[in-house]
Amino acid sequence: MPGNTIKVFGDKLESQALQKGCEEDIEKHCRRCIGKPTMRTLNKLRKYGIYVLFFMLLFAMVFQFSADLRQPAYPVFKMAETNGTNRMIIVVTPTYKRMTRIPDMLRMANTLSHVKDLHWIVVEDGNRTIPAVEEILKRTNLPYTYMAHKTAVGYPRRGWYQRTMALKFIRSNTSQILGKEHKEGVVYFGDDDNSYDIRLFTEYIRNVKTLGIWAVGLVGGTVVEAPKVIDGKVNAFNVKWNPKRRFAVDMAGFAVNLKVVLNSDAVFGTSCKRGGGAPETCLLEDMGLEREDIEPFGHEKEKDREIFVWHTKTSTPNIAQAKKNANSTKPAPKPDTYGYFVEV
Ligand code: UGA
Ligand code: MN
Repeated sequence: MPGNTIKVFGDKLESQALQKGCEEDIEKHCRRCIGKPTMRTLNKLRKYGIYVLFFMLLFAMVFQFSADLRQPAYPVFKMAETNGTNRMIIVVTPTYKRMTRIPDMLRMANTLSHVKDLHWIVVEDGNRTIPAVEEILKRTNLPYTYMAHKTAVGYPRRGWYQRTMALKFIRSNTSQILGKEHKEGVVYFGDDDNSYDIRLFTEYIRNVKTLGIWAVGLVGGTVVEAPKVIDGKVNAFNVKWNPKRRFAVDMAGFAVNLKVVLNSDAVFGTSCKRGGGAPETCLLEDMGLEREDIEPFGHEKEKDREIFVWHTKTSTPNIAQAKKNANSTKPAPKPDTYGYFVEV
């Protein structure tokens, strides 16, 4: 009896019951119109999903935009990793005063500053070190040694004497150069005017166990000189100049493990009788190395092999004032540098 029920449960419950009845009616109606409750949910999702998608897209756009704003305007190079080995790389660079020396050293410093665990030995071919060069070295934040050794009489003025002095320095200051964290090292002769890929240091030099050899671009009267690698072994060289040398390689194309340096007293002499006068083969032969010791790098690919070091040379600029007085017996007056430091 509906009337009794209303009396028993009171007015409030009556209206609730009525409302429930209504909702049930609507639900029945809806079921007819729209389908089962799951379908309804899907339809709701379809409707609100558009809004959700819209807001997600907006959020992604705002996030991306703010990420772009957070990016610095200049490229950031990641510090190159040590590839699992922690050999100290010891780079030996002879250098001398000339108009293009500061920019050459600057380019080299900028490259080396991206390499961890590297000690840079720079040897000035002169009586004293140059403050502007030292400033460049300081700014690399690398451990470095800068010393002056003017080419001794009898030596060619091509960095030979400076490298000899560096080898002697390495042998008598090994633990200071290696520091507490390094037990092993690799020595590389990097001239101040070449162009170096950072990967030369991180992927090649760091991994040299005895004698590493790789390609050098724009050298020896040709576009590239490289070791000829057959079954992982090197028994010849793809070079145009003097291919019969035991080690037909430019100074930029090899590095030796520190233990090889320490186990010998080989230096650069005043001349090199073997190999047509090239100092590289003389040094490596004097270190007791054979072709079997060569570990070739960078030959793995069939084509599109990459060159990690280029034997570039910065040309001396034509300075108008100096040219004007070329026929005069008096030395040309130095060009005005307006108070800036230029090695003229
Ligand atoms: C080429 C090789 O790439 C050198 O590694 C090699 O020592 C040289 O030949 C050689 O004749 O034996 P190249 O590019 O022709 O070198 O010569 P430079 O780059 O002018 O000189 C080699 C290094 O010695 C440079 O780091 C340079 O700054 C230094 N150097 C040159 C001196 O310290 N004093 C000098 O009077 C001239
Ligand atoms: Mn050079």
